Amino acid sequence: MHDFEFKGGDLYCEEVPLRRIAKEVGTPVYVYSRRTLRDHYRRLDEAFSSLPHFICYSVKANSNLAVLATLAAEGAGADIVSGGELYRALKAGMSPDKVVYAGIGKTREEMDYALRSGILMFNVESELEMEALDGVAGELGTKAPVALRVNPDVDPETHPYIATGLREAKFGIGIEEAVEAYRRAAALGNLEVVGVHQHIGSQITHVEPFRESISRVGELVEKLQSLGIGIRYINIGGGFGIPYRGEEVPYPRDYALALEPILRRSGCTVILETGRMIVGNAGVLLTRVLYRKRTGEKRFLVVDAAMNDLIRPSLYGSFHEIVPVEKRDRQGEKVDVVGPVCESGDFLARDREMPALEPGELLAVMSAGAYSFTMSSNYNSRRRAAEVMVDGGRFEVVRERESYDDLVRGERIMA
Ligand code: LLP
Repeated sequence: MHDFEFKGGDLYCEEVPLRRIAKEVGTPVYVYSRRTLRDHYRRLDEAFSSLPHFICYSVKANSNLAVLATLAAEGAGADIVSGGELYRALKAGMSPDKVVYAGIGKTREEMDYALRSGILMFNVESELEMEALDGVAGELGTKAPVALRVNPDVDPETHPYIATGLREAKFGIGIEEAVEAYRRAAALGNLEVVGVHQHIGSQITHVEPFRESISRVGELVEKLQSLGIGIRYINIGGGFGIPYRGEEVPYPRDYALALEPILRRSGCTVILETGRMIVGNAGVLLTRVLYRKRTGEKRFLVVDAAMNDLIRPSLYGSFHEIVPVEKRDRQGEKVDVVGPVCESGDFLARDREMPALEPGELLAVMSAGAYSFTMSSNYNSRRRAAEVMVDGGRFEVVRERESYDDLVRGERIMA
């Protein structure tokens, strides 16, 4: 479900034609639908409504302040992995007591900032991190609330770069070592053990890996509770996949139905760290065709967005649907859609059947709300794109396109 639809021959975001945004803001530009964001958040929230739960939106998926503020107004908390993400979440009005902090490389400075901000808990990923956090909390004269991130060793059947729950992954503490690690955490004077955390990967399109890992986590929780280690929260992580090309994927209620019995038995409050499912299909990247080009047998469509704007196709071989913003009768052709960056790996699509387009025409790269702008860079000294949010019939630029001055901010020529 999303709010990008053709009306007449024009692609709209809610009540605004994308053509209008491109004309007024220029391209490349990311466009987000506020209605879709809210709708996705509410569906997920509703699906888990029979359990005590809350959603800590995964900030890394899309950290624009307007996105965060929209979700904060819905009651979302935040799943963060850096001091920078904490800063954004707080700035957007998210409540610190709904912030959970994961990541294998938290610095002492970041721990200090998060403790002073009063976040709900740290998802601790190693024993040394546990000791460091205990030290920082001690210096501040406070107790750090923690969950241990356990690695349940299940195969999420997703791209290897985004699978995190296998034994060989760098994340978490092996589930077979978890009881011992919890004992040690409970013995540290400046930590308060409150939960268990897992995150097995991203863009998972089956319920089964979740059922398997949550049942392992459920058993661990029972064991811990029987040892008198008070676990009040189970954080099931993120990872719910979305359709990128109209494929069938589970709905939020499918996950909820499968996991509910195990989660209910634990008596814990459930935390979800969803990113992609909320924001992925709430955004598109608008780009304009610059040139057509042929080399040998290959045809290329050169557009003004590149791998620095959207790296997912180059990095993971991800598929993003690409549609002309104006519907017309056109012939079909097979093309590579490529950007201006000086790398052969700079493409948005390869060998794609597309309607034949002319320079100046607009394309929408679909499903570009998650891990798209947040993974963009200034490679080739390209200015990062603008971001726009649509709400009904109006739209606002929620991040300006970068200027040339922005590109060199903070740099100096050495004397
Ligand atoms: N929690 C933790 C601890 C995570 O590491 C992640 C994502 C999430 C939650 C949110 O997962 P989601 O619900 O969005 O699947 N750049 C890749 C995705 C990397 C995911 C990293 N961790 C991509 O473009 O597909």
